[in-house]
Amino acid sequence: MSFDDTFIPYGRQSIDDDDIASVVDVLRSDWLTTGPKTAQFEKDICDYVNVAHGVAVSSGTAALHCAVVVAGVEEGDEVIVTPITFAASANCVLYRNAMPVFADVDYATMLMSPDSVKQKITSKTRAVIAVDYAGQPCDYMALRQICDQHDLVLIADCAHSLGADINGVSPATIADLATFSFHPVKHITTGEGGMVVTNDGARSERMRRFRNHGIDVDHAQRAREGAWMYGMVELGFNYRMTDFQCALGSSQLRKLDGWIARRREIAHMYDEAFSSLSALESLVTRSGVNHAHHLYVLRLSQKFNSGHRQEVFDSLRRQQIGVNVHYIPVYRHPYYQQNVNTSAIRCPNAEAGVDRIISLPMHSALTDAQIGRVIGAVKNALIELERR
Ligand SMILES: Cc1ncc(COP(=O)(O)O)c(C=O)c1O
Repeated sequence: MSFDDTFIPYGRQSIDDDDIASVVDVLRSDWLTTGPKTAQFEKDICDYVNVAHGVAVSSGTAALHCAVVVAGVEEGDEVIVTPITFAASANCVLYRNAMPVFADVDYATMLMSPDSVKQKITSKTRAVIAVDYAGQPCDYMALRQICDQHDLVLIADCAHSLGADINGVSPATIADLATFSFHPVKHITTGEGGMVVTNDGARSERMRRFRNHGIDVDHAQRAREGAWMYGMVELGFNYRMTDFQCALGSSQLRKLDGWIARRREIAHMYDEAFSSLSALESLVTRSGVNHAHHLYVLRLSQKFNSGHRQEVFDSLRRQQIGVNVHYIPVYRHPYYQQNVNTSAIRCPNAEAGVDRIISLPMHSALTDAQIGRVIGAVKNALIELERR
């Protein structure tokens, strides 16, 4: 299936001939998985985000699972997470039979609020998982200070923020562990894929083992040493990434800066077009932040509600604009309602803003003409809304 000329998806990959050639080369080579291209992609991402060790895995979700394991999250622990994210950011805590505790967000940015994090800390808290919602890094300086004061591990879920920084500093260098996703709607893709980066060598070694069933030597090492013996020393998973995916990742990464520049241009065009519309209330970008613009989120102003959002959504879809909603607060999902005690959760800022948000198309291949169509369609939808 391909999108025809009229429908504009909210996100999609860009694949060129170099990307395809890089994958084909690997398919013709000796190593299809966890070989030289995996090591190269790990190094390429580490160099890009300025962190020492990278462990490539099969998805961003697998990356989060690895991160909570080496953060020492165990049964009965609590981990503070944001509700404004994809469920995987909190599910990884449940994988450990630990409890996600939802901190509120700052209303203006929809990013995890450091003040709320402070209030949620108990003697059981082991870690904090911050999410760079839409591509804007969280307030990592404040979160780092809180985590240091309370001896907590800081995990940055950077699935949206590859290429973002705070005054030139990558969030991955401030957190203890940072995770990435290479799903097709992300800045670069490997089809499916993810990575955890850290400056902690011991943690990275444990994650290499964990992604490989918990086995202490991988197949490349055994081939080099001409040995057959291996030991499974802990219960791990098969979270390995193939070499053809990693070759694609390295090829994509070479184009990332240009793609982010285009995303910033698009965000600027949207900002300019919408700044005077009273039906909208923009999300704020914090000062010093270089936003990676994974998502462009519109928020209807406070006189509107979720019903109005639905009307705008429907109107845009009718006009062939592939809008979406990021996100349903994690604790509202049926699984959480049934399996996690959600009755005491209080996230008033998240609740106040989340039912009025809509994500517009945002990806580097959007043409100016398509952006013009999105802008026109949004204005039409808002005129319809105001008229009623
Ligand atoms: C914030 C966030 N974290 C984690 C993930 C999970 O990544 P993946 O789909 O690669 O497992 C996603 C994916 O959409 C995400 O948006």
